[in-house]
Amino acid sequence: MKKLVNRISLFLFTLVFLFACSGCVTSVQPTDANSGSDSDSTDTSKSEISIGLSLPTQKEERWVKDRITMEAEAKALGVDLKVQVSEDDAVKQDSQCDYLISQGIDILILAPSDAKSSASIVDKAHKAGIKVISYDRLVMGTDVDVYLSFDNVKVGELQGEYITKLVPKGNYVVLAGSPSDNNATLFKKGAMKYIQPLADKGDIKIVLEDAITDWQPSEAMKKMQTALSANGNKIDAVLAPNDGTAGGCIQALAEQKLDGKIPITGQDSELQAAQRIVQGTQTMTIFKDTRELGKEAIKIAKKILNGEDLGATQTVNNEKIDVPSILLTPVVVDKNNIDDVLINSGYLKKDDVYKK
Ligand code: BGC
Repeated sequence: MKKLVNRISLFLFTLVFLFACSGCVTSVQPTDANSGSDSDSTDTSKSEISIGLSLPTQKEERWVKDRITMEAEAKALGVDLKVQVSEDDAVKQDSQCDYLISQGIDILILAPSDAKSSASIVDKAHKAGIKVISYDRLVMGTDVDVYLSFDNVKVGELQGEYITKLVPKGNYVVLAGSPSDNNATLFKKGAMKYIQPLADKGDIKIVLEDAITDWQPSEAMKKMQTALSANGNKIDAVLAPNDGTAGGCIQALAEQKLDGKIPITGQDSELQAAQRIVQGTQTMTIFKDTRELGKEAIKIAKKILNGEDLGATQTVNNEKIDVPSILLTPVVVDKNNIDDVLINSGYLKKDDVYKK
């Protein structure tokens, strides 16, 4: 009898507990989808539209600036912006986007960690009636709605043209970005337009050609160390795909006291790269004004939702469709124009760049 009474009280207690908690269930968020990296920039109750933003990383400074710009623009336009950062993890990005879709976003801005597998994110968004803007990086193999980026082949061309003009002959280390990022393919394609003909002529010898997983500076440093030791330090030029990987290579060069002696490219106009340019250890970088790109993304999202024309004047093929595209223009930066391009534009502060 005592046992029966105990069981009944346990049953009643469980019922009361479940009833009390039923109101909280919808607000519980998947832990891996959030991990401290999401935010709602504005008060949803006052916003007419809600935008989901899925970024691949905050590792490189540029992605931090993209996020800051978009949050500010969304706030200025009274738009609710829900941000998720996947930390270079495609599976995590997939579940974070499921979460954003479940939150009733009207549109998704997606910068994919993995160009190919993220096609399923676009498909799921479409099934939920949500359009997707492919941001900076192109989602491959799906009918993504619009691609907003820089002219990425041009980025590579600017790097390739610059380095081959400076070093038309000699031993080259040619590094590409992450194989999972379509931009890495486009940058390399652009750069090789200048490097390959000289390699075919025998003027340039490519002593190392490799790609860097997830754009890791530490991996770039190891590859550079290997190239230096395999060639008795006789390297004449380095094609580094971005500033992060350039930083890794420059560390390897510094170990051999060769920093500042071997021309090396970069991209992103990160503060540390700008400092290296004025100090003479990095030769150039590329300026892609992420403030413009970020603002444009929020504007385009609004235009799509209002059924307005996007002004997409070109298309880029993603192995499924020709995606309507808006591509901003990249600019070369070296010690000759750094003040003009990066400081006078307010992108970087003079005191920071010239800090000793
Ligand atoms: C971006 C670069 C960035 C790289 C690593 C590329 O997709 O276009 O600006 O340096 O990813 O995050």
